[in-house]
Formats: sequence, C-alpha cells, structure tokens
Amino acid sequence: MSLIQMKKKILFVCLGNICRSPAAEAIAQDRIDKSNNLKELLEVDSAGLHSYHEGEPADRRMIQHAKQRGYAVTSISRPVRSQDFDDFDLIVGMDESNVSRLYSLAPTLETSRKIVRMADYFPPETTLDHVPDPYYGGASGFDLVLDLLESSIDNLIQKEVLIK
Ligand code: 4NP
Repeated sequence: MSLIQMKKKILFVCLGNICRSPAAEAIAQDRIDKSNNLKELLEVDSAGLHSYHEGEPADRRMIQHAKQRGYAVTSISRPVRSQDFDDFDLIVGMDESNVSRLYSLAPTLETSRKIVRMADYFPPETTLDHVPDPYYGGASGFDLVLDLLESSIDNLIQKEVLIK
C-alpha cells in the first residue's frame, strides 16, 4: 500500500504585497530549499489586499534587509483573487485588518476557515499580536518584521506541515 501525502499550499497576505508577505514567502521558500523533505510537502506564495503595487517587485528596503539575513525576496506584487481561496489550503494574514478583509473576500464559509493570523504562530513570549506594517517607518521596522517572521514561520511549518 502506498501513502500519498498531499502538498500543502500556503498563501501569505498583507496590504501591499511588497513588504511583509513577500518576506514571509521568501523565508518559507528558504526553509523549503534547505530541507530534504519540504519540497514535496509545501508550496508558498504571497499576495496583497490592494493592487496599488501590482506588477512591482518588493520594496527595496525589505529586499535589502532580507538579503542581509540570506533571503532572496523575488516575488512580484499581485492582489488576492477569489481563486486563491480554492487553490490554497491556508491563507495567512499579517494583521487584524488583513484578516478581516480576507474574511470579506472569502467566497464561502468553508473557504473562510482557511484564514489564519501570522500571530497564531508567534512564540509565546512575543508581546505583539500582529506583524506591524513597516512601510512608513525606519529600518528597525523591517528588522522587527523579519524577526517575527523567522520565528513564526518555523512554528507554522512545524504545526501545519510536519506534524499534520
Ligand atoms: P505591506 O506594506 O502591506 O507589508 O506590503 C505596505 C506596502 C505599501 C503600502 C502600505 C503597506 N502602501 O500604502 O502603498
């Protein structure tokens, strides 16, 4: 008898899809690339809740900060589409506003059950309850986003992919 394990598809979502969610995608992709077995188990993508930056690469500040930690942020901004709710198994919003917008876009009650918060996977000692938008702030905001994502993406992979 053969056991077929389905690949899990995770979509990371923020407002513009140029700072937080592309960084989340890049960190998760890094974990996939460096693992022996995650390639068969996990696929990731990212999208945004508005289309102001559609077709653009990620914010150059995020590209630079992520590069200093060894991550290649290569995604091109695109808006969330209705089809994403069918195509992905888990849809991860970066903050409360992202999550409520995602609920309003979910085509069915069943697909709305795929929506979670990145903060659901923060280590227990984390004092924040969301991934703060770094767009209008300075360098420390980009490093905080990367710190939060590095720790929570490892937890997310453990909980949603490896022990399922
Ligand atoms: P993100 O950050 O949601 O993490 O990609 C933002 C990017 C752009 C804007 C806001 C937040 N904006 O207003 O253009």
